[in-house]
Amino acid sequence: MSAETISDPKSATSGLVAIAVETLMPRDALDFDLYLWPSADSSPLLYREANYPLDETDLERLLSQGVQTLYIPAAKCRSYQQYLRKVVMRNSRLRPTQRFSLLKKANRAVFESAFRSGVPTRMVQFAEEFGRQLWEVVCDRDTVLAHLFSVMDHDYLTYTHLTNVCTYSVALAHWLGITRPGEIGAIAAGALLHDYGKRHVPPAILNKTDRLTPTEREIIRGHVAAGFTAFCMQEDVQWGQLMMIYQHHERLNGRGYLVGATAEEIHPWAKICAIADVFDALTSTRPYRPPDPLADVLEYLQERAGSDFDAEMVRCWVMKICPTN
Ligand SMILES: [Fe+2]
Ligand SMILES: [Fe+2]
Repeated sequence: MSAETISDPKSATSGLVAIAVETLMPRDALDFDLYLWPSADSSPLLYREANYPLDETDLERLLSQGVQTLYIPAAKCRSYQQYLRKVVMRNSRLRPTQRFSLLKKANRAVFESAFRSGVPTRMVQFAEEFGRQLWEVVCDRDTVLAHLFSVMDHDYLTYTHLTNVCTYSVALAHWLGITRPGEIGAIAAGALLHDYGKRHVPPAILNKTDRLTPTEREIIRGHVAAGFTAFCMQEDVQWGQLMMIYQHHERLNGRGYLVGATAEEIHPWAKICAIADVFDALTSTRPYRPPDPLADVLEYLQERAGSDFDAEMVRCWVMKICPTN
């Protein structure tokens, strides 16, 4: 996928990844060192050793000096993710929407490190853990679901797109009556993996603002097969998740890609993912077009209910996202 996924270019080659200061809570012992990195020309400086907690004054000083980012060793991403799970979940002072926003911000560094590594197992681990966290934050709190569209970011950066599709898929599954946490968690993880194959598409094509050539279109379509190939041998990836990756561009009438599968052949989780994917694509700012108004996007889905998308799923989605529609 494109270079846009790397929020901090300094992290790309250093073995360190950027984390938001906002995600660190006072007096918590961390089992990873924290680094400052004042500018791209300088070297990282050890700011705080592991197990030596920051207090309120440290955090306030950092923020007052304009330091919003610290760095941790990439090898410690998993510890950071676990720390966040503990902190974000247990902090009752955070409003549900703040918790949701923090969760996304906090997991960005872990995602980027896993994504850049090119190791499918690391992406699966990330997706499982993040999917579980998201499920707990989103479905446990009606506040987030009630304002789902307004609490989302609407840029079309890779991480935003994947987390949006994940959140929308979880919400739609929940609204459709899927309540088993294991199944929702699996759908969440599958949604996070759905476009993994875009790693193999050159950024120049992904970010192109002009019309795509037929060859370029073919290259983009190839992301589905590339994603399938990356995960098909992974024992910890379920069949439904694999189908979310492989079939999220298929349409009920057989006019989708990669193979033109039709209604019954498309896995229900892939049908959920298809709606979430298109909805996010159309409501986000993309390199070549501004976002469409929400009402137009809902109309687009309704016009294609039963032909492209599962009619019941579209009905449910439209009703919940815009009850007056
Ligand atoms: Fe896709
Ligand atoms: Fe997508």
